[in-house]
Amino acid sequence: MPPEVRKGALGGRGRKKVRGGSAYRSGMSPEFPWNDLTPLGPNRVKVRVPAKINLTLNVGQRADDGYHPLLTVFQAVGLYDEITAMPVLGGVISVLVRGAQAHLVPTDGTDLGAQAARLLRSRYGLPSYGASIEIDKQIPVAGGMAGGSADAAGTLVACSELWGLELSPNELQLLAAELGSDVPFSLNGGTVIAHGRGTDMVPLMCRGTYYWALAFAETGLSTPAVFQRFDELNGAAAPKRPADVPHELLAALIAGDAKTLGKMLSNDLEPAALDLCPALADTLAYGRSYPGVLGGLVSGSGPTCAFLVENPRALADLVGELRVLPRVRAAVGVTAPARGAHLISAHSSAA
Ligand code: C5P
Repeated sequence: MPPEVRKGALGGRGRKKVRGGSAYRSGMSPEFPWNDLTPLGPNRVKVRVPAKINLTLNVGQRADDGYHPLLTVFQAVGLYDEITAMPVLGGVISVLVRGAQAHLVPTDGTDLGAQAARLLRSRYGLPSYGASIEIDKQIPVAGGMAGGSADAAGTLVACSELWGLELSPNELQLLAAELGSDVPFSLNGGTVIAHGRGTDMVPLMCRGTYYWALAFAETGLSTPAVFQRFDELNGAAAPKRPADVPHELLAALIAGDAKTLGKMLSNDLEPAALDLCPALADTLAYGRSYPGVLGGLVSGSGPTCAFLVENPRALADLVGELRVLPRVRAAVGVTAPARGAHLISAHSSAA
């Protein structure tokens, strides 16, 4: 029999079905029968979730809540983490990370993927719900591309499918915002303008395909440390509110005008990232002056550098050159915009 795709085996009525009992696998705990109940959803769910760059990142002064008000344009790019989730009896949630930087992800349950699974279960599931989560990590860790946020968003989508929760997009977005400032965008993808902490988003019309070369640095940068350095460098001179997003940038996206977009790229965190990681200046200077490059910037809080390139051929050439630059760990070419966290497959045990 071919693998069966089952969407929402519980019909979104998780708690009610538990009382009926019929849609759950029963475990081996006679003294506390709910302890080992696990929903009869798919046995293996796979989700893909993209990295992001900020086409513009305008930052205001740190507010009383410790966060900086932002005005930013996010674009999801075709570099993905893949999250596979399988049901586990007895409420165990485990995360295994694979990939060149897997060793940099904490294994003590504090990673954003595990946090996302626990948050989802605490709000919409039962203590008995468990999941074995595997993350194939391609997005750099501490790279300014929302890699941790991607894992949180992907885990929300994967476990909600696994546990048959059938949450609305709005319910998922609210959970995402609790997990981190970039998590809602990782769910959403595409090209959006965001404000507040970064969690309030409006989708933008964006024509065309954009070609990005991404240069990953040898070491990561901590987002709080970069915001802290932003404060130290700007002091009271930082604007209370972030600057507006230029109309030319929005018009360029609507028109699919990569040339103009390339000139409008900007990032208020770039000086702070360069201050913490001076070697980035060479990578940026190299990429920006390369033939066919329309613009370049540090992605988010860095240290990944992103270069907008005019066509696939120039992209391939530049990526080849970036790979051999000193202090560059790896380089890839991607297209954008990309879809937000989405299900690739959901198989039952009959597979
Ligand atoms: O929301 P998230 O957990 O991703 O933020 C990590 C840290 O980045 C925050 O604790 C804060 O130091 C900094 N940050 C900020 N302003 C934002 C977003 C993040 O200062 N808008």
